[in-house]
Amino acid sequence: MGENEALDRTRRDYDEVAELYDEMVRQGNELTDALSTAMVNAFADLVRAGGSAAAVVDAGCGPGQWTDHLDRAGIQAYGVDLSPAMVAIARRYRPDLRYEVGSMLHLGVGDESIAGILAHFSLIHTPPDLLPRVLTEFARVVEPGGPLLVGVQVTDNADTNGWVPYDHKASPAYLWTLDALAGQLHEHRFAELGRLRIVGPVPGKPPAGYLLTRRIATEGD
Ligand SMILES: C[S@@+](CC[C@H](N)C(=O)[O-])C[C@H]1O[C@@H](n2cnc3c(N)ncnc32)[C@H](O)[C@@H]1O
Repeated sequence: MGENEALDRTRRDYDEVAELYDEMVRQGNELTDALSTAMVNAFADLVRAGGSAAAVVDAGCGPGQWTDHLDRAGIQAYGVDLSPAMVAIARRYRPDLRYEVGSMLHLGVGDESIAGILAHFSLIHTPPDLLPRVLTEFARVVEPGGPLLVGVQVTDNADTNGWVPYDHKASPAYLWTLDALAGQLHEHRFAELGRLRIVGPVPGKPPAGYLLTRRIATEGD
């Protein structure tokens, strides 16, 4: 799928399900909420420790729950999402925060001007052949040493290139092995610091995984 076709499809699909998606998020799930929050808080701790005056981007922010969480944790954050309906919901909850309709492929900010990126289940819809372009954009905008936290649904099927198509309810998606995704991130100058695999809670549903990484300062590091 070409860049525009893939992005248009994701935008259309999330515009359609935005309200339902938001309801699902607000309903929550005890286990995944606890573990996701732990990972996002670890990301926030690294941003804080870095001492940057720059903001972090919640890339593919959806209804904005993590932008809101980061802001409440004292982190300067703004959200970007392809779907105008998602951005409208995010703004409804927090009209005081910055939310933009935009693409992770073109963040529209200067080189090394962002303190970190949260990509919380937003890379899952990126066709694998487009992923290098997204990661190149992430590496361009994040300050050296800045963290990138990626959350995805994962597969253990290592017979593939590291990914398999996934019949996601909202829009076509891809499952990654954490090793393959960590490899892609490393090729794009994000070194792994740690990972988490959430096995529960729904039988038959793919596990979720997180990779916490940090932008390597120079090619040789
Ligand atoms: C599964 S939702 C995740 C939303 C939110 N981050 C969360 O954790 O609930 C995926 C979101 O990523 C957005 N998205 C997917 N590809 C994107 C891209 N290339 N640029 C910006 N947003 C994108 C979608 O519009 C959708 O809102």
